Amino acid sequence: MKTGIDQLKQDNAQYLFHPMAHPQAMQKTKPDIIARGEGCWIWDIDGHKMIDGVAGLWSSNLGHSNKRVRDAIVAQLDELPFYNTFRGTTHPRAIELSARVVKMMQPDGVGAVMFGNSGSDAVEGALKIARQYWKVLGQPERTKFISLKQGYHGVHFGGMSVNGLANIRRAYEPLMPGCFHVDSPWLYRNAYTQDPEELGRICAGLLEREIQFQGADTVAAFIAEPVQGSAGVIVPPPNFWPLVREVCERHKVLLIADEVVTGFGRSGAMFGTRLWGTTADIWCLAKGISSGYVPLGATALSKKVADAFLADTAGLGTVAHGYTYSGHPVAAAAALATLDELEEKDVVGNVARVGAHFQERMAQFERKFSFVGNVRGVGLMTGIEMVTDKAKRTPQPRSSDIPARVAREAYQRGAMVRISGPNMILSPPLVITREEVDHLVDILEASYAAVDKAL
Ligand SMILES: Cc1ncc(COP(=O)(O)O)c(C=O)c1O
Repeated sequence: MKTGIDQLKQDNAQYLFHPMAHPQAMQKTKPDIIARGEGCWIWDIDGHKMIDGVAGLWSSNLGHSNKRVRDAIVAQLDELPFYNTFRGTTHPRAIELSARVVKMMQPDGVGAVMFGNSGSDAVEGALKIARQYWKVLGQPERTKFISLKQGYHGVHFGGMSVNGLANIRRAYEPLMPGCFHVDSPWLYRNAYTQDPEELGRICAGLLEREIQFQGADTVAAFIAEPVQGSAGVIVPPPNFWPLVREVCERHKVLLIADEVVTGFGRSGAMFGTRLWGTTADIWCLAKGISSGYVPLGATALSKKVADAFLADTAGLGTVAHGYTYSGHPVAAAAALATLDELEEKDVVGNVARVGAHFQERMAQFERKFSFVGNVRGVGLMTGIEMVTDKAKRTPQPRSSDIPARVAREAYQRGAMVRISGPNMILSPPLVITREEVDHLVDILEASYAAVDKAL
């Protein structure tokens, strides 16, 4: 006779196909069934308590038991659980959230916003609006997209086509034509230089050359993450984004900032473009906008882009895009409460302060452990790249079980972390305290030491 917990584990292996996993692997490995959360802490179904080193998945920025967000969701369920926002229909929360996001991003030049249900939706909306923008302006040949190698932009066909991670493209090829990739400014692994400033210049130059090669009048937009999260937290040199902005302006190419991870504070600035002291034409937002309590994505449009649609006289500006659940009232209510919390509790200030301590402690792992090649990060996002040879910077092969072994050690010691290829990726809730950071890092240190000792 199976207990309820054993049955859940068996049903998971039998019935549920998980994102980014081979279904066969799920039959061989014990699932981590997370059953409860409170603040920065989670409990698995066996009652094992852990500090949440990944905030759900870069999402639960306010932790798992924020009362204000919870109350807003419950109140909204009582008032109006769902209505659509197609054409002339709408509801108060979607309107309030649109005004809130636009006003919050007015200093960045934002003029309007549209909603979806995920980061992938936010990217899809951005790519489609970018193409349509040029049609509205009478330049229909501007259709191509350029993006960075190692970039991640979600899983819809458009986003996948601009993704720069080969292992998640292959199974779904052929992807969308007209998408091109240039080298990312990755200091640890590049063919050019170890000087950050020079690398920023070189990579912005590569973008410019690609635009010229394609013909600027055929390029709709360049899309990139202000910090490449899924690739293992690749932080660009500070001059890269300002130079990219210049290149895009010179060639009138739209700049799309995919801020699904960096938006709403994770980098220590409210938005990644602000971190780099620059701006964009379109922003992709999700995750932190509702602190993961209810799925929500948003595509924020600069005034320049929004105005083109508003000024359209040829009838080309109808937004033939959107979802049943665009601006879902419960998601919008969760987002409004999240933004209240972010602003009133100076959560972004906490990221800057506690994040500096986190980065300082994590950086020491490079020196401490034989198989840690590179630690990089900003704010409360960190990537730890594991290698087989430190001097040669040889990455742990995909077949290596070492990253997973470290993650298991951490789990057993009470910390949830995430492995992607040779990288451990950390993204704790943005409300984490200095003491909780120390607790997380102490566990990680012990976990790396245990694996190092056994090598
Ligand atoms: C930069 C970036 N863009 C897009 C996405 C896709 O978001 P979602 O998984 O909500 O579709 C992600 C997800 O991690 C992301 O990191």
